[in-house]
Amino acid sequence: MIAENRICIITGAAWRKRRRQLLEGGGDIRKLVRADGMARLGRMTEEELDHLLQAHENHKHKRECLKYDDKRCLSRVKLPGGRKIIVKEYRRTRTWLRFSPDALGWLGSWRLHGTAQCLGWYRNSSEKTGFLFFADVGEHDLTFRRRQCVVEKVSNAFYQAGLICGNLHRLHVFHNDLKPSNFVVDEDGKVTLIDCDDVRILWRLPERLMLRNVAQVLGGIYHLAPCKLNMVAWKAFLQGYFLQMPGMRQTIDKKLNKIMQIALLLYPARNEINATFFQELVNERSDRSQ
Ligand SMILES: Nc1ncnc2c1ncn2[C@@H]1O[C@H](COP(=O)(O)OP(=O)(O)O)[C@@H](O)[C@H]1O
Ligand SMILES: [Mg+2]
Repeated sequence: MIAENRICIITGAAWRKRRRQLLEGGGDIRKLVRADGMARLGRMTEEELDHLLQAHENHKHKRECLKYDDKRCLSRVKLPGGRKIIVKEYRRTRTWLRFSPDALGWLGSWRLHGTAQCLGWYRNSSEKTGFLFFADVGEHDLTFRRRQCVVEKVSNAFYQAGLICGNLHRLHVFHNDLKPSNFVVDEDGKVTLIDCDDVRILWRLPERLMLRNVAQVLGGIYHLAPCKLNMVAWKAFLQGYFLQMPGMRQTIDKKLNKIMQIALLLYPARNEINATFFQELVNERSDRSQ
């Protein structure tokens, strides 16, 4: 199954105009200056903003968060109409608004169409925290934590992750955080990319950045249960990736050792399992090329 998860980018004058609207308000973006802070709202109302902030606080209080650490806090909130929203709180923001991770996430997710839709941004002036509000794109990310997995699910999900990664590279986009936890899968099996806080659109994407992205995904795959699924995931990812980037097939075959070195530096705790799978992949791909 191939789900429709194509990514497009806005460039040139169209992006300059959109960027201005996203920062200053205009078009379908509303900028609000309130006593408690400032908001930029796209596909949500001010009432929804207040509801989401309040519900997020309640989730934090009850420790019902998707993630809670010193930098970020995320929760899933249901709006009165039934729409599910992910509230992402940035607990460390920078005063220079445009270069703060929350502002970069706001711009990045609008620039890459086909990633999780960002509905609004809010900055609380007294607590200096920033918030982004995203459409919920699925229950699980590709770490498949605490889940017994089946082959079809894993291979379909990583195949789509490979398509998305290849799609980004074809557009010369570098997503600096392209790991399995930043791909989310919904109940129909459709995979969506999230977390666009650090995306760069280049004139030409250098090979080393492509290899880095591949290493980030392959090396970051958790121990899946049963364990042989890790190899299924690796192969499915590369299959999807090569469909979008056929020219990279030979490079990746030649540079598997380089990819492994990058992965070992990125994820030292997963050294042992990654080394085993890399070796299996090296053997298999060299058999095939003989
Ligand atoms: N739009 C979304 N839909 C569904 N789940 C999400 C969404 N955004 C985040 N999540 C879940 O929350 C986790 C952390 O979100 P993420 O934006 O990646 O935060 P961080 O920047 O801290 O990595 C993700 O790995 C995913 O499981
Ligand atoms: Mg993430």
